[in-house]
Amino acid sequence: MAGMKRMCGWTLALLWGAATAAPTGQDPDARAADLVSKMTMEEKIRTVFGYFGTDTQSVARPAQSIPYSAGFVHGVPRLGLPDQHQTDAGTGVATQRSPNPRERTALPSGLAVAATWNPRLAYEGGAMIGREARQSGYNVLLAGGVNLLREPRNGRNFEYAGEDPWLAGVMVGEAVRGIQSNHIVSTIKHFAMNDQETGRFGIDARIGNTAARMSDLLAFQLAIERGEPGAIMCAYNRVNGAYACENDYLLNQVLKRDWGYPGFVMSDWGATHSTVEAAAAGLDQESGWPFDKSPYFNGALREAVENGHLPQARLDDMVRRIVRSFAAQGVLDNPVPPAGEISDVPANEKASQAAAEEAIVLLKNEGHLLPLALSADRIAIIGGHADKGVLSGGGSSQVYPRGGLAVPNEGPAAFPGPMVYFPSSPLDELRKLGGASLRYDDGRDVTSAARLAAQSDVAIVFATQWTAESQDVPTLSLPGRQDELIAAVAAANPRTVVVLETGGPVSMPWLAKVPAVLEAWYPGTQGGAAIARVLSGAVNPSGHLPATFPSTESQLPRPVLDVAEQEDRRSTVNYEIEGAAVGYKWFQLKGLQPLFAFGHGLSYTQFEYDKPQVQWQGDRLFVRLTVRNTGQRAGAAVAQLYASPNAGGWEAPQRLVAWSKLMLKPGEQGSTVVEVDPRLLAVFEEKGWQILSGEYTLAVGGASDAPVASTSVQLGARMLSPQGH
Ligand code: BGC
Repeated sequence: MAGMKRMCGWTLALLWGAATAAPTGQDPDARAADLVSKMTMEEKIRTVFGYFGTDTQSVARPAQSIPYSAGFVHGVPRLGLPDQHQTDAGTGVATQRSPNPRERTALPSGLAVAATWNPRLAYEGGAMIGREARQSGYNVLLAGGVNLLREPRNGRNFEYAGEDPWLAGVMVGEAVRGIQSNHIVSTIKHFAMNDQETGRFGIDARIGNTAARMSDLLAFQLAIERGEPGAIMCAYNRVNGAYACENDYLLNQVLKRDWGYPGFVMSDWGATHSTVEAAAAGLDQESGWPFDKSPYFNGALREAVENGHLPQARLDDMVRRIVRSFAAQGVLDNPVPPAGEISDVPANEKASQAAAEEAIVLLKNEGHLLPLALSADRIAIIGGHADKGVLSGGGSSQVYPRGGLAVPNEGPAAFPGPMVYFPSSPLDELRKLGGASLRYDDGRDVTSAARLAAQSDVAIVFATQWTAESQDVPTLSLPGRQDELIAAVAAANPRTVVVLETGGPVSMPWLAKVPAVLEAWYPGTQGGAAIARVLSGAVNPSGHLPATFPSTESQLPRPVLDVAEQEDRRSTVNYEIEGAAVGYKWFQLKGLQPLFAFGHGLSYTQFEYDKPQVQWQGDRLFVRLTVRNTGQRAGAAVAQLYASPNAGGWEAPQRLVAWSKLMLKPGEQGSTVVEVDPRLLAVFEEKGWQILSGEYTLAVGGASDAPVASTSVQLGARMLSPQGH
């Protein structure tokens, strides 16, 4: 993949840059060409045709597949091409609904990992789940969700990495690099514009090509360059009329031609709609065929090639791309053994907890209520099943924890249920940390919860929002009576802390009455410990929001979700309203005041930022960021660099162009040099990236709405290729 690997130094420039990924053996292109030349027609067809790894009512899984797995594709054993064993997904090794699921380590949600702003943790988390996947017998992980958070009610936001292309691209790219360091293939998905679940099987996302290239497609481009995934999963929805899995513009023109992507495109499960049209448009492998109307890439594909409706060269290219990825990731040389024991579970759990601890965002901390003095206080713990565990997001990515479900029989009985609480109880973990008297109330009876709060020195309310694949949330409000519960507890005890376990942004009508709020997302299998350690101050919070928290839905580009009817294949969603101005860009463009801005996140210490210092190397723009810890505790600052053209001309006033996370002792000053990717300073035009000449402001700060120091830089006009060269 050397051709697409960007050689400029921004990979090196991030302070937390991770170790290099897997070696790839001998030239994968030559190897793939050789193998394909030896294959029979029948072998080629079986390589591009995917099964479901779980029985459906009408189709049994292939005998060789792993029970309750997501996918299976036959290999060509005589040529050393292994069977493909495919599993979800982004937070760990999932199991399709099963009476006896595999129990594995789950990372915090993808959105939570993005909130760490720490690419090293994304890499290490990816390496951990890739290790468990390999030890579970899988050689393909259906991970790498990088759809932009354009719709805060999207039920799958927890699988993705937020609203900013640079943040999402870097974090997901690193996770995928980590996964593939185990000599397995990862996907990046769902390509593209699959930004809501409502109507997902056919909704037509409308957006101009240039706006798409500067938003969702840019996130994919950056993640693909960095992660070099063996496969791209195309999405269910349509994009500008054509299904994403038979979309010539997306697959042939953007991905394969403009970005030079050498791997293969697999469909989402049920996202293939034709044989010749899909193959000609760039789809290389049909996945989980029982979900499609027909086995399009089986006999029908063979017939299409033999009758001349699809060139033999195209079928050979499909197969070559698949074989190439298995060669490039070292799967051919290091075949995955049959499922065995998971080794070193404690190390895996440590990787999950490390991510959870850095993911938690301290949204508000008036009067320094946090960290808590656990030695003295009578603390009320209320709601959210905090006595039992922490919540996770639902759907195909569901990981089942060791120890079983902490709270059985919650949520829908059928997909995307069950609602899974991991058995990591914040209450128990707080008990381990200190001598405070902790009392629990399940929060179901608002009056009794308020009474307990009134009798306590501090009240901590755990509020949850379950989100899941296949369904968006109707509103940003916390479900049930939780807003009422929080308001009542805060009225009974002004020293109230709210801990949120949510899929994404939620509204907080009670915010003015509550002095401290932590956003813990879905914090993974060690989430209870991570939350307890942040509450107690054993960990100084350093997470920052990867997405804007709106004040109300009326601030959104689409105050009401465009489609009410889930299966309406004729419907459209109009992303031209905001175009590339996604998230904070929309809010700044429209002068809207969010509840919490993108990039926001407090600490138990304070930081001061120096003016950014520009350092040119030829036409490469580097910036030195310097931060001081002026408080009494060690902590990590996320120095965020935002650029804006003084003359305007972008989709929105400013863009995140770089960041650095610096761990600093009290009084310590740290500094790092980051490189700004030139595409982040450009606008996309039909032929590539155009940097407009003029003066630009570079502002640094700890949030998108809080620039504290700035400098200006003069840029000359420059045209770059679609790859950014
Ligand atoms: C999801 C994919 C997943 C696949 C296999 C689909 O429903 O959209 O993300 O990888 O199922 O389980």
